[in-house]
Amino acid sequence: MSDDFSAVCVLGLGYIGLPTASVLATHGFQVTGVDVAPHVVDTVNAGAIHIEEPGLQTVVYAAIQSGKLRAALQPESADVFIIAVPTPLTPEKKADMRFVIQAAESIVPHLKHGTLVILESTSPPGTCRELIMPILERSGLNVGGDVHLAYCPERVLPGRILTEFIANDRIIGGINPTSAERARALYDRFVEGRIFLTDTTTAEMVKLLENTFRDVNIALANEAALICERMGVSFWEVARLANRHPRVKVHDAGPGVGGHCISVDPWFLVEKAAEESRIVRLARERNDAMPRHVADAIAELAEGVKSPKIAVLGLAYKANVDDIRESPAVRVVDCLRGRGFEVAVHDPHVKHSPFPLLSLEQCLRGADCVALLTNHDEFKAIEPRQAAEWMRCRILYDTRNLLDVAAWKAAGFRVHLLGVGETRH
Ligand SMILES: NC(=O)c1ccc[n+]([C@@H]2O[C@H](COP(=O)([O-])OP(=O)(O)OC[C@H]3O[C@@H](n4cnc5c(N)ncnc54)[C@H](O)[C@@H]3O)[C@@H](O)[C@H]2O)c1
Repeated sequence: MSDDFSAVCVLGLGYIGLPTASVLATHGFQVTGVDVAPHVVDTVNAGAIHIEEPGLQTVVYAAIQSGKLRAALQPESADVFIIAVPTPLTPEKKADMRFVIQAAESIVPHLKHGTLVILESTSPPGTCRELIMPILERSGLNVGGDVHLAYCPERVLPGRILTEFIANDRIIGGINPTSAERARALYDRFVEGRIFLTDTTTAEMVKLLENTFRDVNIALANEAALICERMGVSFWEVARLANRHPRVKVHDAGPGVGGHCISVDPWFLVEKAAEESRIVRLARERNDAMPRHVADAIAELAEGVKSPKIAVLGLAYKANVDDIRESPAVRVVDCLRGRGFEVAVHDPHVKHSPFPLLSLEQCLRGADCVALLTNHDEFKAIEPRQAAEWMRCRILYDTRNLLDVAAWKAAGFRVHLLGVGETRH
């Protein structure tokens, strides 16, 4: 079988699919990027982007200008189909595979001898074998023989997607060894990291274990922060000193875990192996309980203030991105509003939000307590004296240990940090 792929169809033009489609196009492939959202298709065809990611605008523009990338609402004939559609959670904490099923079904009419199908969406173990393979075989073609199927999880970090897309090592799981080899031939054209081949279910497990590892470690840090609060010491100091141990790396504590990956993926393991996934579930529950803890702390700080206004800095789930999916900051705001607080929100990155987004000044003006929920770089540059001038009461609650405590105290603020208890010494 020839591995002379030329036409690639990428399904889903989001944070993963759009960089994939545009990088493939700038590496010589003829790429059709497919999305069910008309505004995404129109934006990409205009050489623009609908998400924030450093460097992406330039690559998409170059790809469209070169004629190698075109966006469409429907898949078209191609040598390779890459599925990069969302896999969110249902309210029952199960993987919602509707988008993957729709995407797989939409390519069935285009399958032919030698087509390679690659799933990139994060999925429960067994998805390629139990879900994708039967759909593809509706074409009358045999998967493994006529058509090849591989799973290739993405491990890029939002904010560094384009760099990591090329530099990171890749795991490729094939439904059979030929499928894995053919997928390797595709990624070899642009990946500079090492490529490791395995079977589909192992590759699906690898992705989930990576994100679960991070979730469990963050849960441990968050739990340690709560213990430190109770013990009257600073988690940040404890973690800093513990990390002087050569084999210890305590993660940062924070207001919870968000994003499309770490807060979602561990549940896919719980779904498939509930009995065994005890630590996984507990970690999820610990991290999910953090926004309420933060809202409680803010409510306590605002006690005694008449009709308090809370200024929230940061809605994105992590620093320097515009993504608010599963963001703990959104849950903190919801929680505070549910308790009747007036809440004003400022985030210099986020463009679409369930709450009105204000300028820094509008957010801080007349506020009584400023709560920093996301560690965007811009927040470090806030001038505490200016903030003090705008605000009514001067209370600061920093959940990320980002701000210069001494400078804010010098400007007259009562400063509190997540993970720092009232001192007992
Ligand atoms: N964002 C990340 O950093 C990241 C990292 C690793 C893995 N992943 C995984 O990659 C997958 C995609 O994530 P994302 O962040 O790119 O999602 P996204 O929501 O940013 O984009 C997905 C796009 O797919 C489109 N879509 C939905 N159904 C479709 C269909 N049937 N056909 C064509 N397009 C369709 C949507 O309109 C949307 O534009 C998910 O499984 C996610 O868990 C994401």
